[in-house]
Amino acid sequence: MRDISPLKDQISALYEKYKDDDEGDIATYIPELGKANPADFGISLATVSGEVFSVGNCQQEFTIQSICKPMAFLMALERHGREKTLQHVGIEPSGDPFNSIELDPKHGRPRPFNPMVNAGAISVASLIKGPGGTGVAEYVQRLGLAAGRTLRIDEAVRDSESATGHRNRAIAWLMRNFDIIDEEVDQTLDQYFSQCSVLVNCADLALIGATLANTGENPVTQKDVFNVQYVKDALAVMFTCGMYDYAGEWAYRVGVPAKSGVSGGIMAVVNRQLSIAVYSPRLDTRGNSVRGIKVCTELSNEFGLHAFDFMNVGSNFIGAM
Ligand code: DON
Repeated sequence: MRDISPLKDQISALYEKYKDDDEGDIATYIPELGKANPADFGISLATVSGEVFSVGNCQQEFTIQSICKPMAFLMALERHGREKTLQHVGIEPSGDPFNSIELDPKHGRPRPFNPMVNAGAISVASLIKGPGGTGVAEYVQRLGLAAGRTLRIDEAVRDSESATGHRNRAIAWLMRNFDIIDEEVDQTLDQYFSQCSVLVNCADLALIGATLANTGENPVTQKDVFNVQYVKDALAVMFTCGMYDYAGEWAYRVGVPAKSGVSGGIMAVVNRQLSIAVYSPRLDTRGNSVRGIKVCTELSNEFGLHAFDFMNVGSNFIGAM
């Protein structure tokens, strides 16, 4: 077991190193997201032994955006099992941007490539929406259990995305055409837009990630949040598809399951050890946080967090306080 203090020191050092880095641009295609402060920057760490450490703007709330996708996939698996869920969404990386309008042509029956691209996430939203929109409340409640506090939706962001989300609407109707989603297309889109609009802060994201790292149990509250048998499914698709068309490079350079969102969050999970979350709204051209990628890459290299690094022996930081 290793002492966690060097990791904390390095997080503080990386915060100082990158706090004036202004590379990238904030997302504006959802008009409300354009109101984010581009200078905001926070890094949080949460371990499976329940220690949380944060530097920078880690209490600043932002909408979770695409980081909602792995937990939604997990909930679909819990509700429907693997066989049925995988009829509606695949598990292959697409290599294409997150919002591309395409279905996997190689599968016997068309379906979205994976749950991390919009098409797959919308299909998953259809599976968990619940009668009368109850799926939204259930999603927010489960995410709150993982974060360890009550969460809520930013209605202005949800309405802004709903008003401008024509591309997602087109994807949903294309999937309706192929019977991938049911006839309640508007409810499905509301579920998807609502999931993306849950307000979190950087420390919440680290705790949600640590809950995944800790076999689905929140390491602080010790409540069971996600069914352990499906946590690996979510982590696997995060590993292969979580960073969109940067997923291969991320797996090569950082080597841990992760998910990014267009509001500037990245949640990275070192299985059975810890989670690192970064909030920094300036994005690169693929929609990933610029400082988030820099911080995670350096931490992974320095501490051997990569899944295949010879220094990663699987329990490095467990119990280290
Ligand atoms: O579908 C959308 O456009 C957003 N609500 C989520 C996009 C997102 O975060 C993709 N990420 N990089």
